[in-house]
Amino acid sequence: AHNSFYSIASIPADGIGPEVIAAGIETLQALAQTLQTFELQFHHYDWSSETYRKTGKYIPDGGLDELKKHDAILFGAVGAPDVPDHISLWGLRLAICQPLQQYANVRPTRILRGTESPLRRCETGDLDWVIVRENSEGEYAGQGGRSHRGFPWEIATETAIFSRHGVERIMRFAFETAQKRPRKHLTVVSKSNAQRNGMVLWDEVAVEIAREFPDVQVDKMLVDAMTTRMVLKPKSIDTIVASNLHADILSDLAAALAGSIGIAPTSNLDPTRQHPSMFEPIHGSAFDITGKGVANPVATFWTAAEMLDWLGEKDAARQLMQCVETVCESGTLTPDLGGMATTKDVTAAVVAEIRKLP
Ligand code: NAI
Ligand code: MG
Repeated sequence: AHNSFYSIASIPADGIGPEVIAAGIETLQALAQTLQTFELQFHHYDWSSETYRKTGKYIPDGGLDELKKHDAILFGAVGAPDVPDHISLWGLRLAICQPLQQYANVRPTRILRGTESPLRRCETGDLDWVIVRENSEGEYAGQGGRSHRGFPWEIATETAIFSRHGVERIMRFAFETAQKRPRKHLTVVSKSNAQRNGMVLWDEVAVEIAREFPDVQVDKMLVDAMTTRMVLKPKSIDTIVASNLHADILSDLAAALAGSIGIAPTSNLDPTRQHPSMFEPIHGSAFDITGKGVANPVATFWTAAEMLDWLGEKDAARQLMQCVETVCESGTLTPDLGGMATTKDVTAAVVAEIRKLP
């Protein structure tokens, strides 16, 4: 048989990033060895807040061109206690997403077998969502400024940008995502009652694109009402599309409702496949548990499965998630899921499940 070969850039970065990425790579390599259907080669980039302290930059000159040579990017988390968060986020993560045109951020959420939702009477299968987040403009376009710094009349502006091009491409991607799922249902999240320009364009484009997808059922929801629907009627939701800011907030809520931020994955996709896409756990660098060996690696395993799926290794992706869920069900859980296992325990258990695959 002819194996597919993939070159993967790994950027573990800060805090628990290196701990969970090491676990992810170990698991992926065990899967590749066992299945013998694909091969992965990892290239490590030590870009982090440590690099920033030493050189004043997160990404060295020419770094982005290096990244473009790979098939995908596996990212840990960025953020350090002594670096302001807007510097670290814009210096590394957004500095990759924006130039590589990773305009679709995808966040699947469900309750894994063996884990519990904090919602009463919400079991595995009752909550199965995909949140599609606009990842290139909106409220995080980076436009705005500050004047009269330090004076009582200081002002700051943060301008949200909604371009027809940007909204059309994310809506089309969201409809395609919904169309591929069994329920074919999309909720368009908006705030067009209060934000009467950008969000009104957003709504109008959603209606236009909907005509291209007659088989997808659509509804619209204001973002504040969406939070209550997520908590009170989780079964009524399937695929969600929202702006950069709205989806950022909704997806943290989604992760918590599914049990823990320690299990949630996210993909930063360039749907045109011109550039490599980037895959990362949703969580941050978690200073409070860094070095303690208890970071939950499940978010990174799920992230790895999402990466394999995007690369076309759909069977491998599904098998990896089966192994992860079997381990969760066996009670090998880190403290964030109510267990006592370490990162290494969970990783070893998942690797052992992988070795049992036919
Ligand atoms: P965080 O996600 O790092 O931590 C929030 C809480 O969740 C903490 O109590 C942490 O211990 C827990 N947690 C997170 N991941 C976990 C895991 N895998 N297993 C078990 N528990 C886990 O968010 P926080 O504290 O707001 O931010 C810390 C730093 O991370 C900041 O510098 C922030 O800017 C950065 N950050 C980076 C992100 C990224 O690189 N994409 C995303 C979110 C935050
Ligand atoms: Mg966030």
